[in-house]
Amino acid sequence: MTTPAGQPLILHRYPRRKNETLQAFDAADEYLIEHVAELSLPAGARVLIINDHFGALSCWASQQGYDTIQVSDSVVAQQATVQNLAANALPSIVQLTSLEPLPERIDVVLLRIPKSSRMLSWQLQQLAAITDSSIPVIAAAKAKEIHTSTLNQFERQLGNTVTSLAKKKARLVFCTPRDDKPELIDQLHTFDVPDYAMTLANFPNVFSAQKLDIAAYLMLPHIPSEPGLKRIVDLGCGNGVLALQAARNNPNAFIHAVDESHMAVASAQRNLLAHHIAPTRFECEARDCLSEFAHHDVDLVMCNPPFHQQQAITDHIAWQMFCDAKRVLTNHGRLLVIGNRHLGYHAKLKRLFGNVSVIASNKKFVILQAVHAQH
Ligand SMILES: C[S@@+](CC[C@H](N)C(=O)[O-])C[C@H]1O[C@@H](n2cnc3c(N)ncnc32)[C@H](O)[C@@H]1O
Repeated sequence: MTTPAGQPLILHRYPRRKNETLQAFDAADEYLIEHVAELSLPAGARVLIINDHFGALSCWASQQGYDTIQVSDSVVAQQATVQNLAANALPSIVQLTSLEPLPERIDVVLLRIPKSSRMLSWQLQQLAAITDSSIPVIAAAKAKEIHTSTLNQFERQLGNTVTSLAKKKARLVFCTPRDDKPELIDQLHTFDVPDYAMTLANFPNVFSAQKLDIAAYLMLPHIPSEPGLKRIVDLGCGNGVLALQAARNNPNAFIHAVDESHMAVASAQRNLLAHHIAPTRFECEARDCLSEFAHHDVDLVMCNPPFHQQQAITDHIAWQMFCDAKRVLTNHGRLLVIGNRHLGYHAKLKRLFGNVSVIASNKKFVILQAVHAQH
C-alpha cells in the first residue's frame, strides 16, 4: 500500500499463505487513511482504531507517529497487526480486546464498520460513553455494507451523521458525537435451546448470537458419548454450544473451546460455567485455529467451520482447521465436521485423512467424520 505521503507500507494477511490472492487492505482503508491524512493531526495525537482488519490502519497511524490504540475482537487481526508493524519496523501500539473498556482520552476515532449490527450497536454505545462533540468518529466500509439503517444507528446512538461520496466502492461515515454520556446497556443476548435444556449467552460479535445456528443444532445429537474420549476440542466454538454438549456427554473428558473471537471465547466460558461444567474440566482459548496448541493427544475435534474471513468468503480457514485437527489428533482420533453440502468438505477430508464417512445428512447439510490413522 502506498500512503498519501508516498510512504510504502508492506501489508500481509495473516496467517501468511503461499498463493495468497487477497489483499491485507481494501478501498475503505485507503479512503479512511486519505481522509485522516488531510486532518493533519499532530504527532502524538491519540487515535483509537476499532475493527482494523489486518492492521493497515494501525500501521499507518503508527507510521505517522500517532499514539495508536487498537480495539479488536479478532486474534487473527491482532496477530496480523503485530506482524505487519514488525515487517515495516514501526513502533508497537496499544492493543485492546473487544471486551476491555475503551480508553478515556482520545482525539479521533477510526472505525471499520463490523458485519454484525449488534456489534456496531455495542461499539457505538461504548463510544457514546467516552466521546463528545470535539472527537470526530470516522467510519468506513464498502458502500454496499452501509445501509440507511446503519446511518440511523450512528445518528440514534452517537450523534449527527453524514456520509461521503463513494470512492472505489467504499464510503466514509462522519459522526459528531453528542455531549451526553448515556449509561452502557447490557451487551449479552441470551436464548434458550429447550430440546437440550440450554440457555446460551452471547456477546454481540458471536456467530449466530440471536438464535442457535441450524448446523450446530443438527450436530448436537451426533456428539459422541464414550468413556475413551479424554480430550475433546470444539474448534471455532462460537458460544460453546458443541463444547457444552460434549462436556455433558463425556463427564471424564477435558474440553478445549477455541475461537479467534474474544467475544466467542468469553461467551463459551460463561455458558460452560452457567451449565455447571467444573472449571477444572475445560479451557476456553482465543487462538487462530490450533496454532501453538500444546496438546497432541486429542481424541475428538468437533468443527462447524466458518466460511468468511472478515468480509471475504473463503474456505481456507476450514482447510486450516482440518489440517490443524489432524496435527493434534491421537492415533484413531476423529474429526467431526458439519457443513453445507456445496462446500465440498467431503473431498477435502478424504484428501487429507485418506478416509471420510457420512454420519448424517439432510438436503442442505452433511455431518462427516474423518479418522486419523497413523502408520
Ligand atoms: C460457523 S461458526 C460455528 C460456531 C459454533 N461452533 C456453532 O456451531 O454455533 C465458526 C466459528 O469459527 C470461528 N473462527 C473463524 N476463524 C477462526 C480461526 N482462524 N480460528 C479459530 N476460530 C475461528 C468464528 O469466530 C466462529 O465462531
